[in-house]
Amino acid sequence: MTRILRARQLAVIVLALAVPLLLVGCSGDSYPNTTFTNLTDFNRDARGLWNLMMRLAIVVFVLVEALLIYVMIRYRRRPGDAQPEHVHGNTALELTWTIAPALILVIIAIPTVRSIWRFQAAAPADAVQIDVIGHQWWWEFRYPQYNIVTANEVYFPSGRAVNFTLTSKDVIHSFWMPNLAGKRDAVSNRANHLWFTTDSTGVQAFNGSCNEYCGASHANMRFRAYSVSPEDFDNWVAGQQQSAVFPVVQAPAATPATPVADPPQVPVAGYAFPADQLPTHVIPATPVPAGLTIADDVLAAGDAQRGADLFSRTTCIGCHTVRGTISRGVIGPDLTHIGSRHTIAAGLYPNDPRHMALWLKNARRMKPMQTSSMPTLGVGETDPILETTVSAALGGLTDQQIADLVAYLMSLK
Ligand code: CUA
Repeated sequence: MTRILRARQLAVIVLALAVPLLLVGCSGDSYPNTTFTNLTDFNRDARGLWNLMMRLAIVVFVLVEALLIYVMIRYRRRPGDAQPEHVHGNTALELTWTIAPALILVIIAIPTVRSIWRFQAAAPADAVQIDVIGHQWWWEFRYPQYNIVTANEVYFPSGRAVNFTLTSKDVIHSFWMPNLAGKRDAVSNRANHLWFTTDSTGVQAFNGSCNEYCGASHANMRFRAYSVSPEDFDNWVAGQQQSAVFPVVQAPAATPATPVADPPQVPVAGYAFPADQLPTHVIPATPVPAGLTIADDVLAAGDAQRGADLFSRTTCIGCHTVRGTISRGVIGPDLTHIGSRHTIAAGLYPNDPRHMALWLKNARRMKPMQTSSMPTLGVGETDPILETTVSAALGGLTDQQIADLVAYLMSLK
């Protein structure tokens, strides 16, 4: 009997010692979206607080468990034992276990309150200002200092404070880049703020997501954040400030014999985060719905000029803006530089011709959406919301037309 008891006690002790060791295995490498980073002042503060609390909690846990186990073994009931002495209250003990936790709370509260005040205060004056607007289900990013509007991919310079002002167009969303800072709600009737400064070391890409349940595609409301060098950021800004770069102007092969009186302005595509430097965990891997396809040869035959003409004649312009064209819609994401983004559908799919084509054919199958959202456009496709089949007579697009649109959109760098 006592042998079984001893074996059980030993098992409990081994388990108590093994759990902290197992937790040590939760390193950042195996969890790339971890919040335990030292990449920003914000996360460094949060991590410091976590470490302090965790260490104090471990001390308390070990002391309490050791005391408990000792008392359980030392004072266990033995055959023939008399009733123990009955006592009530012990002033010294009660004072100890009131004062000790109060002291621990003070030790935790001081740095916690200091961090809260630090990051609830206004951002540094030289911060990059980014207005974030949550939509069902995508993110709009506006840079009022630079007059830029973009969507689902946000850039900021490393080493400089960045101040996000968060609002919503509809329901409550929550803006979160776990590697960089804590979550903060985006609500429609007040502006919340979130600011931090990324470290100036290196170019990095991060995942972001919505963290407040906001409807059918809450889990599909993602974004990407790129912390880039100040020079690359300036270059990106310069590119984004331009109107749509179409038709793409080819640089002349040789200097013309007679100088052109009024040379056309050759727009230069701005910086974009290099695709070959994207870490695997920020590249979307969402499977495409079964049966949704487009032939490779049709896709390859897409003509950007035909696509541009078609774009200006279809419903696209009612919802999307392409600056420098008649397309001025404000319901969906700004597409002025869509070709320079790495993802579509709010971070759900990679931005390549095939995924873009399938998105145009039947976006509502690619991502649960609403009746007011991106419609199903491919002829012969079934709209999963309206449960109708798209026909050419009702404005549906053939695969060739979709390939033309894709060629146009992809050219908007
Ligand atoms: Cu937006 Cu959840």
